[in-house]
Amino acid sequence: MTASSLSRPVRKAVLPVAGLGTRLLPATKAIPKEMVTIVDRPALEWVIEEAREAGIKHFVFVTGRGKQAIEDHFDRAFELEETLQRRGKTAVLERLKAALPAPGATSFTRQQAPLGLGHAVWCAREIVGDEPFAVLLPDMLVRGRPGCLKQMMDIYARTGGNLIAVDEVPAAEVHRYGAVALGERHETGAMRITGMVEKPAPGTEPSNWIISGRYILQPEIFDVLGHTQPGAGGEIQITDAMQALLKTQPFWAVRYEGEVHDTGTAAGFVRANIAFAMDDPELAEELESYMRALVQRS
Ligand code: UTP
Repeated sequence: MTASSLSRPVRKAVLPVAGLGTRLLPATKAIPKEMVTIVDRPALEWVIEEAREAGIKHFVFVTGRGKQAIEDHFDRAFELEETLQRRGKTAVLERLKAALPAPGATSFTRQQAPLGLGHAVWCAREIVGDEPFAVLLPDMLVRGRPGCLKQMMDIYARTGGNLIAVDEVPAAEVHRYGAVALGERHETGAMRITGMVEKPAPGTEPSNWIISGRYILQPEIFDVLGHTQPGAGGEIQITDAMQALLKTQPFWAVRYEGEVHDTGTAAGFVRANIAFAMDDPELAEELESYMRALVQRS
């Protein structure tokens, strides 16, 4: 495999949205967790914006049972649009239109059973085909300027290969995530990944650097995923497949500028709402004075 074959453009993004969202029940009983509202739009819409900013042209959603709302959200709603038009609500109408991917720029496939993130990504293999692609976990919202995936794309243009966004967490929390071992530093600031492990047992963590929900992967990962056995939690783990591919392809860790929020937990969901609301000048002032008063009272 030549170096240039590992640096072809990234045009497609896979969005695995088939999980059950059990940590956010009962909110996620009838609503997909990727559709819970962060300020004024579904979490998933923030993530699509991030991917579009990074130049992604095609969005592959890996859905499951009960996720119909996702397909409807990224489609036109003719009656609604017509009503908004009639009532002169043009600003919101334009806002809805701007958030829609271009016709034909979305694909939907079903995972059929939630066998793990690695299995969900593998389900996108026929649609992605033989080209590098991005994976964005829609429950991980990254607040960054530019967005996390754009920062990764800029580095990918110089490194090629496979890239993973990483975050530093306290040692006591590493066992909840996938963690990486780091080696040499590239001139872009990316760090060579020398090993990966999903949910390491306490005391065996390779570092404090955890995998945080954004990936650029080469298509060879699909063959590896097709043979990957269930790992941590009995699920087919993308980390295990990436660890196997590490033998033949380079992986780089990107320490991006920004902060990540896990909207799949109650605390992360509330934090994401506060953080993203504070970025909106129309909301920030009122929210700040309310939070100050709240803290004083308690
Ligand atoms: P998570 O493990 O955070 O999602 O997966 P989950 O399983 O829905 O959450 P809990 O633990 O029950 O609360 C990260 C992303 O991968 C997707 C999820 O939808 C989420 O966006 N996923 C996970 C799949 O698409 N399929 C799976 O089998 C597992």
